[in-house]
Amino acid sequence: MILLRSEYTGSHHISLNRLRKTAAAVLRLCGHTSSELSILLTTDAGIQALNAKYRQKDRPTNVLSFPMQEETNPPAGVMLGDVVISVDTAAAEAGERGRTLRRHINRLLIHGLVHLLGLDHERSEHEAAVMAARERELLQKLQEYERKKPMPILAINIDHVATLRQARCINEPDPVLAAGICELAGASGIVAHLREDRRHMQDRDLRLLRQTVKTKLNLEMGAAEEIINIALDLHPDMVTLVPENRQELTTEGGLDVAGQLDKLGLVIERLTNEQIPVSLFIDPEPKQIAAALEINATFVEIHTGRYCDAVNAGEREREFEMVAAAAEQAYSQGLRVNAGHGLNYQTTARVAALDTIEELSIGHAVMARAIMVGMDQAVREMLQQVRGIYS
Ligand code: PXP
Repeated sequence: MILLRSEYTGSHHISLNRLRKTAAAVLRLCGHTSSELSILLTTDAGIQALNAKYRQKDRPTNVLSFPMQEETNPPAGVMLGDVVISVDTAAAEAGERGRTLRRHINRLLIHGLVHLLGLDHERSEHEAAVMAARERELLQKLQEYERKKPMPILAINIDHVATLRQARCINEPDPVLAAGICELAGASGIVAHLREDRRHMQDRDLRLLRQTVKTKLNLEMGAAEEIINIALDLHPDMVTLVPENRQELTTEGGLDVAGQLDKLGLVIERLTNEQIPVSLFIDPEPKQIAAALEINATFVEIHTGRYCDAVNAGEREREFEMVAAAAEQAYSQGLRVNAGHGLNYQTTARVAALDTIEELSIGHAVMARAIMVGMDQAVREMLQQVRGIYS
């Protein structure tokens, strides 16, 4: 877990999301996915005060490290310590060396982290050489990783188009047509929930979607025998299992996977035997991730509803951290990770920036905007949110 704070208030813009992502990637490259790291961005005055207090050097510097572990190569899963970076000095050095500030801060972060892992260039020339080599290696791997990292894909949930049609029980608007427009606008997947009560999607829709969707059809469904048989027959590109409750307006919480291991395990087995990968829609809770692994789910979809519905900034931050930590836990243990529910034009970019997320499933916000601006434009605008941080 990365604890990232900034007390820097100067004119250089630093994307904290991006730095958090970089730090998580570097931790992973060091085999410390489950360890904690604290990072503070500060000013020259801030770092000078720390340098004077803890190192008796009353001057600013670029980076300071405060290890929590005494040994060299501490084990994974521990609090490694603090890295403090002065953005003022970093910016001046970046200018002198002709680097971007972001790249230079990445170098300083790696330098500080290697200190926390027990190496110290001040101890001997030999150790200085070992440390420099380790830093070069990590920097190179980070660059390769950043080049390789694909951005998450956007899958559009089209249930609401069917909801509108069913309000009149006629044949328009047609969700099958809507799916085509979403794909033309750049969506990489279509999600449709076939509920037992057929309140929106109908069997006919799924049959036609199977024939016409060119990207990827994700069938969302409860684990009911009738629907499982339809899925086996339809053969969607993947299935997302969700809890289904007849009284709910939309899917409420995540699945209690831990509480129904046998039942869900069997459903996963039946679907994966037919080469249909299964995702489990879960709340961001460690025990649900462990349970999903135990019963061989291919994906989990982390429920983002509480993050999106948060009523104040503090609550939103806490909920976001839970989503980020759950995604990290699932990804680092080998699950593929999707996320969704409640995401809109304000809350999506931050989740899309997590380097653990493969696919975002978004419905309501896009449909609500589509009524105002048209489906094509609403999907394109959401794609900008998904991709924005990488441009
Ligand atoms: N993911 C799952 C599992 C869902 O049940 C839903 C809602 O149908 C979504 C994502 C999309 O949520 P929203 O419509 O709020 O974007």
